[in-house]
Amino acid sequence: MSSITKSFAPMPDSAAIILAAGKGTRMKSDLPKVAHTILGRSLVEWAISAAKKAGFQRVIVVIGNGEDYMRSLLADAEVELVVQQEQKGTGHAVAVALDQAKISQETVAVFYGDTPLVRAETLRKVTEVLQNDRENEGSKEGSENNVGAALLTMRPQNPSGYGRVVVGQDGQIDAIIEDKDCSEEERKALLDCNSGMYAFNGKDLTRNIKKLNSNNAQGEYYITDMVKILRAAGKAVLNVSVEDENELLGVNSQVELAKAAKIMQARINQMWMEEGVNMLDPNLVWIEPDVALSRNVQLLPMTFLSGATEVHEGATIGPNCRLTNTVVGAGSVIDETVAIDVTIDEEVTAGPRAYLRPGTHLKRGAHAGTHIEIKNSIVGEGSKVPHLSYIGDTTIGEGVNIGAGSITCNYNGFEKNKTEIGDNTFIGSNTMMVAPVSIGKDVITAAGSTIMKDVEDGELGVARAEQKNISGFTKIYREKHSKKK
Ligand code: UD1
Ligand code: CA
Repeated sequence: MSSITKSFAPMPDSAAIILAAGKGTRMKSDLPKVAHTILGRSLVEWAISAAKKAGFQRVIVVIGNGEDYMRSLLADAEVELVVQQEQKGTGHAVAVALDQAKISQETVAVFYGDTPLVRAETLRKVTEVLQNDRENEGSKEGSENNVGAALLTMRPQNPSGYGRVVVGQDGQIDAIIEDKDCSEEERKALLDCNSGMYAFNGKDLTRNIKKLNSNNAQGEYYITDMVKILRAAGKAVLNVSVEDENELLGVNSQVELAKAAKIMQARINQMWMEEGVNMLDPNLVWIEPDVALSRNVQLLPMTFLSGATEVHEGATIGPNCRLTNTVVGAGSVIDETVAIDVTIDEEVTAGPRAYLRPGTHLKRGAHAGTHIEIKNSIVGEGSKVPHLSYIGDTTIGEGVNIGAGSITCNYNGFEKNKTEIGDNTFIGSNTMMVAPVSIGKDVITAAGSTIMKDVEDGELGVARAEQKNISGFTKIYREKHSKKK
């Protein structure tokens, strides 16, 4: 069983600031932009997860728009939250974080909560430029050519909307000009773009942050202007280019959200296929990040694995399955099934069209068949619920067969009641089991019975009107009706 979480060693004296205060007007949504999700995780939580895996000592998230919503979203995220009351730009957001969170770390990375595809490796790479510089003592007081910042750049096919990077003769970055502030010539000439991921020498950043101004097209304080300021102060600004430009995709609209989701899906699926998971069509399999899978698992089209789902060796899931927080044991075959908070042991078969609800446990070799719903119930080893049943709040022993159409009547309109069914019992088709009721071992219930009283071990439970056959009835009946015409 493996998972996709890979973490790096902690980076000493480091902090990451994630900017997430913006509204995201272009999303046309009531939710704050960074609260939108990809594979069950919000954009900002993807960014937080990358920062944590990269090994930053502190992770500070700047929130603002939808503050209450963001606070509850991040209540368990184990990050420091600071609030930028008024969104005066990315540079202002960093200034607010430095001030409110009293950031005094040697290395400070800054990136945006709307870039969910960034990898921990990449954040690490840009931050290490600063860390290595410190080790080489380049950042010592008085040193002329210490590194003030490093940033990730890219050359996207369509650069519109991105800040353009001005690279000087020495290969260093001289400035970043925002798209809106570019002249037509600059827009054509400058192909390298700012990804919005930076690592700063903490001291240089703190010392110079007040020098930012808002003399630009948007009247905002841009963090991107730190490049010019640091260069003017004699600091080096280095460029780290990224191999996979997808990592830098900023999500600003619903279209970009869907694009990012598709890339994340492909990335996760590729990782699992490399681990020995089989997919007939990876475009039609969606796996959330906290899922754990084993080798030889087969995932068929239209399978959605969510939450803390685990699928063990040799199990087959799909087509058309949605499993949430569900454990599937080795060798089980789950076809067209929805399962939420369910435990499925080894060699179980389920579906097509089974609905398994919270608290259900299907033990080894059990079968939950077609058009059935099972809620908060244990189905014992080798027991079968093959067709058209509802089983709720029930404990079923081993080797039991539940006949087609049988139902536990667990709800009397006021409370839920329990049903017990002992080992090797045979529940005849269309048995209504009115809970609370206890049916013993080796019991047979007659088809069509409504069982309201307990049935002891080895007994037949029968509760139905006796059958009468009336001879000649059909003929009389048909004649009577045909005369009416
Ligand atoms: C930004 C960069 C641009 C870069 C691009 C990459 C600036 C000025 N520009 O542009 O150079 O190419 O990202 O994706 O930095 N935010 C706050 N507080 C604010 C303003 C923004 O927290 O006052 C947050 C937003 O919530 C968002 C992030 O900062 O998560 C980036 O802001 P956004 O407006 O999306 O910047 P871009 O125009 O994309
Ligand atoms: Ca953006």
